[in-house]
Amino acid sequence: MIDELLGLIERHEQWRVRECVNLIPSENVTSPAVRSLLSSDLAHRYTSRQRFYMGTSFIDKIEQHGEKLAKNLFGCQTADLRPLSGHLADLTYLACFTKPKDTVLCVSPDDGGYPGFWRKGLSRLLKLRMIRFPFSKEDVNIKVEEATELILREKPKVVIFGASIILFSHPVQALAKAVHDVGAHVGYDGSHVLGLIAGGEFQDPLREGSQALFGSTHKSFFGPQGGIILADKEHGEAIKKRIHPEFVDNAHWNRIAALTLALAEMTTYGKEYARQVVQNAQALAKTLAEEGFPVACHQLGYTRSHQVLLNYGGYRKGGVVARKLEKSNIIVDSGVRLGVCETTRRGMKEEEMQTIALFIKRVVVDGEDPNSVKADVIKFVEEFQEIEYSFK
Ligand SMILES: Cc1ncc(COP(=O)(O)O)c(C=O)c1O
Repeated sequence: MIDELLGLIERHEQWRVRECVNLIPSENVTSPAVRSLLSSDLAHRYTSRQRFYMGTSFIDKIEQHGEKLAKNLFGCQTADLRPLSGHLADLTYLACFTKPKDTVLCVSPDDGGYPGFWRKGLSRLLKLRMIRFPFSKEDVNIKVEEATELILREKPKVVIFGASIILFSHPVQALAKAVHDVGAHVGYDGSHVLGLIAGGEFQDPLREGSQALFGSTHKSFFGPQGGIILADKEHGEAIKKRIHPEFVDNAHWNRIAALTLALAEMTTYGKEYARQVVQNAQALAKTLAEEGFPVACHQLGYTRSHQVLLNYGGYRKGGVVARKLEKSNIIVDSGVRLGVCETTRRGMKEEEMQTIALFIKRVVVDGEDPNSVKADVIKFVEEFQEIEYSFK
């Protein structure tokens, strides 16, 4: 039993780390230093603000250190590292600023919005009325004029920008006035683009009218899997009053220590990393488009984020493509969204993006035997086993 378990983990590591090109935009890799903190003694410990548990003096300082780094990096008045995931950061934010029957405006899952807000997700739990942003499928973005009218007409309680498919900045600044005029709270779910925001390569929601920025710490960001909430004083303090014990009890201090180191890495290397991520995404998109792939947003230069979107018109066709690629050790989702955070962190640049695009072409367009492509992929990734943009 134990041998079987350890064998499965070893096979997973061998395959996904040493033999695959990982292109899932929700994923990234942590540096060895960040990873090592996950197995520190902090993983065994409890703490609480009421000083119920003794032995927490170092843990408390680690948390303060992390909050300080986060506030400096994102230029905000409050930071909370305790949400255990992006979804729970979203829940905490929504629960703090809505009551049942309130209206929430965000991007529909049909347009790449986060499904977790919708029908069976947080809206059901919190009994919210969800309305969708008017959206241009062609530009993969919110339509500003129509959204302004909708906001003034529907007077939502909360407006959330950000999405799971996000190629370009959302029009936070252009809509902030309308949102503030109706007295709504403005939040930005930065789960996908947090690392690009930190690196100054995407929009800056907290300067554009958003009062809170929240989400996952592990997609374009350098952290272990988890969540974060960054906010102005008013919203941050309201969240801090309720997050414990309503949404988090034990905050998993090994994760918070690892996230704190990731915040330090991002402070030092974020600019360089984020710039390369966007350049890599653009290079991948361009080569794929030249090879005849249905890459979204040609008219806008394809992407300004870590994602490249292939328009296969739905998960069914996308799933066929994704399964073919998996046989060749190229890991994507059924979206088909391609993300370049992990490959960038492994040191790949524009030239390697072209190589990856050609691997994808051999599988999807040429119909080459997946095993022959796989052999080349394994050889290709051998050279990219170090994690860059981290303290050595
Ligand atoms: C926009 C967005 N928000 C929230 C989440 C949930 O994040 P987590 O997986 O960290 O709970 C996701 C997940 O993919 C997402 O895409």
